[in-house]
Amino acid sequence: MTMKIRKAVFPAAGMGTRFLPATKATPKEMLCLVDKPLIQYGVEEAVAAGCTEIIIITGRGKTTMEDHFDKSSELEASLAAKNKTALLEIARSVSKLAKITYTRQPEALGLGHAVLMAKELVGNEPFCVLLPDDIVDAKTPCMKQMVEAFNEVQSSILGSEVVEGAAISAYGCLDCTPLASNPRLLEVRDMVEKPKPEEAPSQNAIIGRYILTPRIFEMIEGIKPGAGGELQLTDAIKALLHYEKVYGYSYEGKRHDAGDKLGFLKATVEFGLKHPQLGAGFHEWLKSFPL
Ligand code: G1P
Repeated sequence: MTMKIRKAVFPAAGMGTRFLPATKATPKEMLCLVDKPLIQYGVEEAVAAGCTEIIIITGRGKTTMEDHFDKSSELEASLAAKNKTALLEIARSVSKLAKITYTRQPEALGLGHAVLMAKELVGNEPFCVLLPDDIVDAKTPCMKQMVEAFNEVQSSILGSEVVEGAAISAYGCLDCTPLASNPRLLEVRDMVEKPKPEEAPSQNAIIGRYILTPRIFEMIEGIKPGAGGELQLTDAIKALLHYEKVYGYSYEGKRHDAGDKLGFLKATVEFGLKHPQLGAGFHEWLKSFPL
């Protein structure tokens, strides 16, 4: 029987320290690229990939995320009374994106631990994980590309890209070989979280997009703290390799690390230039900007 992907998990309980002071009282997932919070880009990507149930792993001080995806009756009534139909549609569409459930990660014990918080809500079916910091700009949304690949191989798949030199130390790293039949699919032999550059088995980094089979929960329950003293998702996926095949997926598109100040700034400029209403004016202004 083929397994279908319906659920997407968003770990969003982190403190966002890389983005202080902006994230002192505002969840980093609510920082806006042009006019949309980071988490909404991710949720829209999951919905475009066919997911109908979204599970957000949240924590203290993160309630604005829940308000954002909730229906805002006051706002809708006010826009309707003023006949602002286009704005009303924007406000309404956010709360209609998908069924969203929130569950808390009480302590920041690592990405593996965050994903484990979704165990009951996911149940016994394969599911996606999207890290909201990683924004992927692609003609076919990244997770949709990965779901299509999953439909072929019915195994766990990790979004992957080649990074330069020592940058690999900031990522999970794959020891893998592309399949002759589909070079975007990388057969994984091994993986290591945040290796020293000289110990990295390749330059193939894991990015914040995963499709995982439900056995991952048992694997997370079995691992010990790894890199940085945290329960690492990478270590749990490595354990999964003893039971199942795991693939990397060399997606088509451009990733922005929007959890990093410079990465966020670059993404803002690119998304600003592409924005249907603002792009042309922003382009004009940028051209006249004295660099
Ligand atoms: C996490 C994962 C890492 C992955 C990265 C992608 O690390 O642990 O394997 O490569 O996301 O963004 P973090 O960025 O949370 O340190």
